[in-house]
Amino acid sequence: MSATESIPTRELAERAKAITQRELQVYIARTKGSQAATERAREVLPLGVPSSFQAYDPHPIVVRRAQDGWMEDVDGNRYVDFDMGYGALFSGHCHPAVRRAVETQLDNGTLFVTPCEMNTEVAWLLRDRYNLPMWRFTNSGTEATMDAIRVARGVTGREKIVKVEGGYHGHHDEVMISMKPPISEAGPADNPRAIPSTAGITRAVLGDTGVIPYNNLAALDRALAGRDVACFIVEPIMENIGICKPLPGYLEGVREITRKYGTMLIFDEVKTGITAGWGGATGVVGVQPDLVALAKSIGGGLPLGAFGGTSECMDQITAGKVLHLGTYNGNPLCMAAAKAVLTEICTPAATDEAIARNRMLLDACDGIIAAAGLPAHTVQFGAKGCVTWAPEPIQNYRDYKATDFDLAFAQWMHGINRGILLPPGLDEQWLISVVHTDHDALRYADVFGEFVAELTA
Ligand SMILES: Cc1ncc(COP(=O)(O)O)c(C=O)c1O
Repeated sequence: MSATESIPTRELAERAKAITQRELQVYIARTKGSQAATERAREVLPLGVPSSFQAYDPHPIVVRRAQDGWMEDVDGNRYVDFDMGYGALFSGHCHPAVRRAVETQLDNGTLFVTPCEMNTEVAWLLRDRYNLPMWRFTNSGTEATMDAIRVARGVTGREKIVKVEGGYHGHHDEVMISMKPPISEAGPADNPRAIPSTAGITRAVLGDTGVIPYNNLAALDRALAGRDVACFIVEPIMENIGICKPLPGYLEGVREITRKYGTMLIFDEVKTGITAGWGGATGVVGVQPDLVALAKSIGGGLPLGAFGGTSECMDQITAGKVLHLGTYNGNPLCMAAAKAVLTEICTPAATDEAIARNRMLLDACDGIIAAAGLPAHTVQFGAKGCVTWAPEPIQNYRDYKATDFDLAFAQWMHGINRGILLPPGLDEQWLISVVHTDHDALRYADVFGEFVAELTA
């Protein structure tokens, strides 16, 4: 099928549904062990999973082991892992340098709850990458964004925060608002309503969180004009609706407007941090926030988060005005892993190499899409990439909701049965880690090519 004879979108969606139906049966037949494990799990774990985003129908794959760039499920099926823990494993699974560092640390103790010298070393490593002077450690991205918001409230003396519609910043109350709101309830695109994403959010919290569209400076200006907003928290490049990039000048405008109204700018780099480039998205876009939240890949597979800020912000903690606490903060095992990640594994050269390998994969996918004339395109940000089932790049959550989920789901289902593991949420993206090979990366393109051939036959 060539670009000139492209198939109508409705017809493609019908074909995609047929592929999904067939592949679902294949999936059920080849994952009997995962099904049995999930049934046992459901007796003691809601949805049979430790975190709700791990659940999907009819059951998730249950994993026995993982190394480098692959995982194996309890049925013995092997997958090239493009999910990499939702982007948490830029170092790959169980990198030898992480293992060495953790094993050495095990000989010296797992938890001190009093400082260790590695706290300072790792803070310097982050300081060098993000150009922010002071850092603290947490155990997750959720804690990192929660603490960064508290610091912003401390320094401004203001209560309200503003976030972007469709943005995910972890599972604390203030940001579990308008994560993926139903469009029917979400109000006008340029002035969205704040919708709680879970039960348990109080009216007070809801009232303190404003929601605006991404890539819309006028909406940001309106939201901050009352000079009562402590912070604007945003992923500089949104990575929870595929990959959604800022329009030219957007982030510069965000910086200008937040400064104008005395609002702290928090870049949530839990996903983009170190995978976007050596200095994270902050380094790539060249816009300096007041606070940065990190997690996922900095821990090399261990649970670590961090937030860094300007002296003005972090002095809140020094002065004892904002309390930042946590028994496991900066624990030596995670510090040892992070030090290995930041010095030995995710070096500038290794990072650039993974990004180039990702480009090669994206080029291969671009060729397949163009040859078939599909209403799809690829997006790259650093070592991450995705196929978005829409003809034009998306600019915000509303655009994302208009993409073709039937096609996206059929591709996901087709891939998993052929050993291509992508994150189950269609809002995610792949990660080419520093240990994926050319062969691994191109396996995705081969299977994608098979899918497209069937879709367009
Ligand atoms: C952008 C972003 N911020 C924060 C978080 C929360 O991180 P964690 O799951 O480590 O709490 C996530 C998790 O996916 C994320 O994608």
